[in-house]
Order: sequence, then structure tokens, then C-alpha cells
Amino acid sequence: MTGFNEADKVISSGGKILVYIEVHEFLRPRKIALDVRLNPSEKGGNMKVGIIGAGAVGSATAFALIMKGVARKVVLIDANEKKAQAEAMDIAHAAPFAYANKIKAGNYEDLKGAEIVIVTAGANQKPGETRIDLLGRNVKIFESIIPQIAKNAPDTTLIITANPADIMTEVAIKLSGFPKERVIGSGTVLDTSRFRTLLGYHLGVSPQSIHAYVLGEHGDSEVLIWSAGDAGSIHIEDLARMVGKPLTPEVKAEIDDGVRNSAYKIIDGKGATFYGIAGALSRICQAISNNEYAILTVSSHHEDVEGVKGVCLSLPTVIGKRGVHQVIKPHLNEAEAKALRESAQVMKQYSDQALAMIDATAK
Ligand SMILES: NC(=O)c1ccc[n+]([C@@H]2O[C@H](COP(=O)([O-])OP(=O)(O)OC[C@H]3O[C@@H](n4cnc5c(N)ncnc54)[C@H](O)[C@@H]3O)[C@@H](O)[C@H]2O)c1
Repeated sequence: MTGFNEADKVISSGGKILVYIEVHEFLRPRKIALDVRLNPSEKGGNMKVGIIGAGAVGSATAFALIMKGVARKVVLIDANEKKAQAEAMDIAHAAPFAYANKIKAGNYEDLKGAEIVIVTAGANQKPGETRIDLLGRNVKIFESIIPQIAKNAPDTTLIITANPADIMTEVAIKLSGFPKERVIGSGTVLDTSRFRTLLGYHLGVSPQSIHAYVLGEHGDSEVLIWSAGDAGSIHIEDLARMVGKPLTPEVKAEIDDGVRNSAYKIIDGKGATFYGIAGALSRICQAISNNEYAILTVSSHHEDVEGVKGVCLSLPTVIGKRGVHQVIKPHLNEAEAKALRESAQVMKQYSDQALAMIDATAK
């Protein structure tokens, strides 16, 4: 378990404003000095980010990174070069309204020096399709993409968002040969945001003030953690009663449906989801760029989840420059632990299938 204290000292030194925070990493306390003269996002970030796939998700993510100033340079790569060029050109014309950032379409050699490469390339869900239905098609696409990223940007952190995202994270670990902490899935960062948004609307408070998490698969078996959500230092159930809007089984079922099935509703209405995931991806990039030690529900490889061995899914995770710094084992009630185990079992079953597909190609 990792513990944090809020900034315990602020001093001025040679024009720098240093905030010291105490971090307990693997039970060893140490102090970290952060220079907070400027929020890096205010000076336009310093990172180079590669995005593979300039479709709906890739281009919305590039736009978010540029407009929030999270990245200094963005390189868009797509099998459809004309599309990548058009998206880069369009977004470049918005950049002067935000920061002095650059975006261009490129090839894999342009990934040299990229701190982060986001992989969005792949088939997306058609109305009625589940994320798992995309597996075979996206494994093939990853076999052509990931080795090229690994060759040209061997020190990068990979963020995987193509679906089924948890399984594709496992596939990317295998195909890249990268240390596991440098291969992250966007996981349930988006689902957690959906949960907080719906809770915030119900309770009449800002979603940013709510700490509640969705864990497990980014998909149908995900687990909303009702037992541990809090806001303003009290449990969400107590806050709900206090404001006269109790979280009855009916309200919970409605919020659960809104979180679990929103992608299906959005895809039914407009063909794809992209703004929500673009926001989630730019938040993950920001946490890495600023070495924030932020807790986000990204997907990563775990040796054991509720007795299921070797599986990628989302748990509360401390994210910074090195990618995954620490995974927090949450307190769950019996029903949540069971649901997380079932989610892990589903992920394990499909990961094994995906890894077998890669082995078959290699033969
Ligand atoms: N994890 C999440 O929360 C989340 C949310 C939304 C979408 N997604 C997933 O992201 C993926 C992309 O969705 P989208 O809506 O952007 O799809 P899209 O069809 O709009 O874009 C996919 C792009 O990938 C490109 N591409 C395909 N094969 C390629 C290859 N071998 N090399 C380079 N580029 C290639 C295509 O040309 C296309 O431009 C899908 O798998 C979708 O399910 C994930």
C-alpha cells in the first residue's frame, strides 16, 4: 500500500518553487521535490507523443493533447496516410489558439524520442458488437504495429486503447518485449469518469469531488465499487441520504446501466465514442509527463487478481514517469470481490486465446 502526505513544505530556491511531498514507495519513505513554477500544461508540456491510428479516437486524442498543452509534439500515424495528414493539418490550425505545440502526420521512424505512444489503431465496434468481438482482427493489426513501435521508440511508454483494451494490453506486452510497467491500457479510466459523472449529477456535486472507482475489464464484466466511494470525506451512501437522494437499488441499477452500457448507446447514436476516451488518454499522458504519482484506474498486468494468475485489468494504480509505479489493492466487499474475480477470469480466458494467436503466427 502506498501512502501520500499532501505537500509538507513549500520553499523558494533560485527562482524555483519547490513542493516537497513524501512518498512511501514499497514501504520506504522518500521525499520528492516538484518544481511547480509553472504547471507544465501551462507552458505547453515538453513531451513528444506518438498516436497510431488517426481515426475517431486517435484524432480526438491528438486534439485533446494539443488543446490542453499536454504534449509539445504529436505524431499521427495511420495506414491511411491521407487521413493522418488531413487530421494533423486540421488540428495544427487549432494549435495557435492554445499553445506553441506541433502536430504532424508521420511514419514509425518519426516516433524516435517519443515518451509515450498511444495505440488506437484497430477495428471498432459496430452497433451490437461487443469489445471482445474485435479480438481476432485487432491482434492481427497489433502484430504489424507493435514491433515497429518497439524498434523505433524502445524507451517509450505504450498506452493501449484499441479494444478489447485489457487483452490488447497483454498482447502489446508480448509483442513489444517491454517491461510490464511501461505497457498501460487506458482501462477503466473512462468508465470511472462515467461513474463519477453520473454520481455527481445525482448527488448535485462536481464529479471531480467524488472518489469512486470502476475496476476490472474495460467492458461488460467491469465492476462498479459502491462500497468505497466517498465525497467530502463521507461515504457516497451517507452523502446521498444527507441530500435527500438515497442510492436505492433502483438508482444504483440506473447508474450501473449508464456506466456499463453508455458506449453501446453512444455508438448507436453516432457510430463511435471518442471524446470521453480522448479526455481519459490526455489525463493519463499528463500524469506521466508531470510524474504526478496520480491514482488512475489504468489497466496493467497483475500476477494475481482474486486468485486469477497473470492478467491485465484495471485496479487503482499510481502513475508517473516510469508508467506503473504501484498498484493499490482495494478493500472490496464479498460481492465486489466475486465480480472482480469473474472479470479477471473472462480476461484470462480471452488473453490466453490472443496469446495463442500470436504463437500460431510466429510458427
Ligand atoms: N478503450 C476505450 O475506452 C475505447 C474507447 C473508444 C474506442 N476504442 C477502440 O479504439 C479503436 C479505434 O476506434 P476508432 O473509433 O478510432 O476507429 P476508426 O475506425 O475511426 O479508426 C481506426 C484507425 O486505425 C487505422 N488502422 C487500421 N489498421 C491500421 C494499421 N495496421 N496501421 C495503422 N493504422 C491502422 C485505420 O485506418 C483508422 O483510421 C477501436 O478498437 C475501438 O473499439 C477504445
